[in-house]
Amino acid sequence: MPAIKSILHGSETFPPDAAFVEQSNLAGLASYHALCAEAERDYENFWGNLAKEQILWHKPFTRVLDESNHPFFKWFDDGQLNISYNCLDRHLVTQPDKVAIIFEADDGKVTRSTYRDLHRRVCQFANGLKSLDVGKGDRVIIYMPMSIEAIVAMQACARIGAIHSVVFGGFSAKSLHERIVDAGAVAVISADEQVRGGKSISLKSAVDEALSMGGVDSVRSVVIYQRSGKDSKCHTTRDVWWHDLIADKDDTYEPEWVNAEHPLFTLYTSGSTGKPKGVQHSSAGYLLGTLLSMKWIFDYKPADIFWCTADVGWVTGHSYVAYGPLAMGATQIIFEGVPTYPDSGRFWKIIQDHKVTTFYTAPTAIRSLIKSGPDLPGQFDLSSLRLLGSVGEPINPEAWMWYYTVVGQSRCPIVDTWWQTETGSHMLAPMPGAVPLKPGSCTFPLPGIMATIVDETGHEVENGKGGFLVIKRPFPSLARTLWGDPERFRKTYFPQDLGGKYYLAGDSASRDLDGYFWIMGRIDDVLNVSGHRLGTMEIESALVSNPLVAEAAVVGKPHDIKGEAIIAFVVLKGIRPHGEDAHNISVSLREWVTKEIGPIARPDEIRFGDNLPKTRSGKIMRRLLRAIARGEKITQDISTLENPAILEQLQQPIN
Ligand code: PRX
Repeated sequence: MPAIKSILHGSETFPPDAAFVEQSNLAGLASYHALCAEAERDYENFWGNLAKEQILWHKPFTRVLDESNHPFFKWFDDGQLNISYNCLDRHLVTQPDKVAIIFEADDGKVTRSTYRDLHRRVCQFANGLKSLDVGKGDRVIIYMPMSIEAIVAMQACARIGAIHSVVFGGFSAKSLHERIVDAGAVAVISADEQVRGGKSISLKSAVDEALSMGGVDSVRSVVIYQRSGKDSKCHTTRDVWWHDLIADKDDTYEPEWVNAEHPLFTLYTSGSTGKPKGVQHSSAGYLLGTLLSMKWIFDYKPADIFWCTADVGWVTGHSYVAYGPLAMGATQIIFEGVPTYPDSGRFWKIIQDHKVTTFYTAPTAIRSLIKSGPDLPGQFDLSSLRLLGSVGEPINPEAWMWYYTVVGQSRCPIVDTWWQTETGSHMLAPMPGAVPLKPGSCTFPLPGIMATIVDETGHEVENGKGGFLVIKRPFPSLARTLWGDPERFRKTYFPQDLGGKYYLAGDSASRDLDGYFWIMGRIDDVLNVSGHRLGTMEIESALVSNPLVAEAAVVGKPHDIKGEAIIAFVVLKGIRPHGEDAHNISVSLREWVTKEIGPIARPDEIRFGDNLPKTRSGKIMRRLLRAIARGEKITQDISTLENPAILEQLQQPIN
């Protein structure tokens, strides 16, 4: 386990604006403390009451928490519900004509869908899936661009009780294939193309390629949404166009009532082995987490125009695009494109045009927008904004201040939300009408989330010291298991080293003397590149699968915009290349990784050596590679290093 050092932080705080407090769902620190105390006093009733209040149950539950099969917890497990019913039908009586989704395409074209319309589309598509014999418990892969249809596909799966697994459209055919096989999917829902930044990229050809790789006999149907109509055909009997599938389908569909614990979805994410893990979420517990965080952290109001910029391929796009906002009955923006097209004012223009009130994005996007147009927000009317949010990685105080003063005009609180694919919804984040903010800190746990920091032996550390971030008690929105691999779930998240009781998040953190949490980074071999999790092992496996490569080690290096850049140290099977040779091989290896995993995993830099720095027992000394990648002088102890001369070689960049 790595040594952990605590970072000292400034104590400047930003208390919420009086006008904000006055209208907030939870005003004043005392009300936050009261909720926390309630959870401490009677944990089960705290959650039980919230689940009764927030969720529409088809059959009420009688049991709140079952911990008997630790750590495979069950919440509300004899209750029955349907998530799509909770997101759509519940609004049909009260606000059928409210706009649910404002979709803005890459080219600026705007389409609106009301709750009535969305319900109709989801029911039709659910009937379509049923006609393909997709049913309860079946796995469905969704590989789609940001679109109303992507939401319809997810909601339709939820409606029929199928388990969706969304694969980010930027992943390669190979990654898609791996996920289809692991999930044993019966259907794949995709599109002909995705359009981003003025460019069209084929998705269907990646689907075709993935399905030609073998081991995919489980897949009976491929549904293709025609986004551009330019590329691809439906060329096998397995393929069906989305519009043909729904053409004659009824627009009502009685929801499939499922148990609270029925899996809503699995979502693959990186861990510290080469194989991505299928994080499996429940229905009711997951929904409860998204609903409460919409209310507590996003301070949701019916008049809000909510915009979470995350792609549905990531957990943020599940909880705060596909489910949370709809369950609340919100109007939300879905944007197909990229923040810099046609120029770096695009986000600010969308906020202005649609009068966005709540804007949730990632620090990497904020940093790139600062770089490309620090004064641009001033050219737009951003007065509709009342709340800003940040997610995916620690936000550096400089970016925080810019976001706060330039975008939020010192009026809007920033909710820095710490959470993970595994936690399903926010865990540490300020209740904006209650908690004074500190730039760079995600502040405090949500009520009912028993987060703390422990040392290597599982003992809590005092404020001011660093350690491992853990959550001491099970909570409803926690993932239930890893698809097909419960033992990996137990070992990864409830390790015996820490006593096996606490959920180990995989992040190191510290609490300052005021008790504020500060996230310091991952404790495992996971990188955070532009807010996306990438396992170093995954990239290494991709590299060594290239016929030229004998060995590879991947580390991260701080990057101004992306947070971390990927640096790969590679040993070839032949001799170490030099000059133009090295350059060409580096280009082709970077391309190789793009094909194997996707462009997000492409190394920023590759360095070649005759060997890698290893201990006498053959273990790669990554801390040395990290120092080399950062261009730091090596001050660490290298007495256990088998081949010290290698360090000098690896210090030389190619170009
Ligand atoms: O390291 C933490 C970082 O992102 C990891 C979770 O990644 P993923 O499952 O892909 O989900 C990202 C979106 C929820 C965490 O273990 N992380 C996420 N949010 C923050 C963060 N680090 C610091 N501050 C945050 N607000």
